[in-house]
Amino acid sequence: MPSLSSSPPSSPPSALRHVLRIDALPDASWNRLRHAAVAHRHNDDRGRGAASTQSIGLIFMNPSLRTRTSMEGAAAHLGAHHTTLVPDDEGWGLEWDPSAVMDGPAAEHAREAIGVLSRYHDALGVRVFASGTHYDTDKRDTLMRAVADYATVPVLNLESAWAHPCQGLADAALLTERCGDALSGTQFVLSWAPHPKPLPMAVPNTTLRMAARCGLDITVARPDTHALDPDVRAAARSAAEAHGGSVTATTDQAAALDGADVVYAKSWGGPMQYTAPSRESEARAAHADWCITAEDMAHTDRAAFLHCLPVRRNVVVDGAVLDGPHAAHLDQAEYRLHAQKALLEYVWRLD
Ligand code: CP
Repeated sequence: MPSLSSSPPSSPPSALRHVLRIDALPDASWNRLRHAAVAHRHNDDRGRGAASTQSIGLIFMNPSLRTRTSMEGAAAHLGAHHTTLVPDDEGWGLEWDPSAVMDGPAAEHAREAIGVLSRYHDALGVRVFASGTHYDTDKRDTLMRAVADYATVPVLNLESAWAHPCQGLADAALLTERCGDALSGTQFVLSWAPHPKPLPMAVPNTTLRMAARCGLDITVARPDTHALDPDVRAAARSAAEAHGGSVTATTDQAAALDGADVVYAKSWGGPMQYTAPSRESEARAAHADWCITAEDMAHTDRAAFLHCLPVRRNVVVDGAVLDGPHAAHLDQAEYRLHAQKALLEYVWRLD
């Protein structure tokens, strides 16, 4: 008689290579990954077919153009099978509350969904955005941590409330390709930008940590209403110091841009969207002049312009900058594909 015990057939979760945040990657892995991404860009045969027995399940609780298509493309390049689920498009919702009495619209709990998909696949990629209403829950990345707890295969964070490691690795690889390992001394400006909506902090949090880990001299330019979380700032300062860089913050966007080598524009709602949403909205509207213009860019040291995309033309940045000679946002988006090939090799131990 076969055993009816319920233990999963795979290796114990402690052995899994989850990728939930870039700062959780050991230095050696981080450096190997960004160089592997560069190598993938320059050798289209690298890794081709290497994961032909593997399969990844992708779940998007929120929409995606880049992450979805680049992850599917990376899996295809390596020869892996993928399944992509978009619960909202398919008319089913997931319950996340561990103690929910499930008599509402959600027919399936994330615990079962992730547990089942772990039995079908060799890795899972999951996107779950911020609540925008519960700061501590978002800061703890509660939903992504739940996914990692429920999974019995490696989990790739495809953007969560607090982190976007795939974006961070792609951005680091782009900077590594352009500047080599001698990134120290590069003047990197992360500039807040206007937007019609209060956006989550996953990208600015990750960009700050990425730039700090690359040893850049970082200036965060933002209105005083939109400072980033103090723990994220403190962690970035420590990482920057450890890697030969620095972090400063200013409300003077023009001074920050003066002589910059890299300008990374991004809007975020900041902590105030949780505590005082109408004041945050007023502050955002009052800073429409933070849109990056060609004139702003003329004061930089012919800086590369970066944005993770999607970008609102002539709100976040003038179309002339995006269409100009120093725009690097399409290279940046291309790097998502190469970085995710490297990440799949990492989680499947093909590196
Ligand atoms: N930058 C990024 O993650 O883009 P998508 O939302 O289109 O995936």
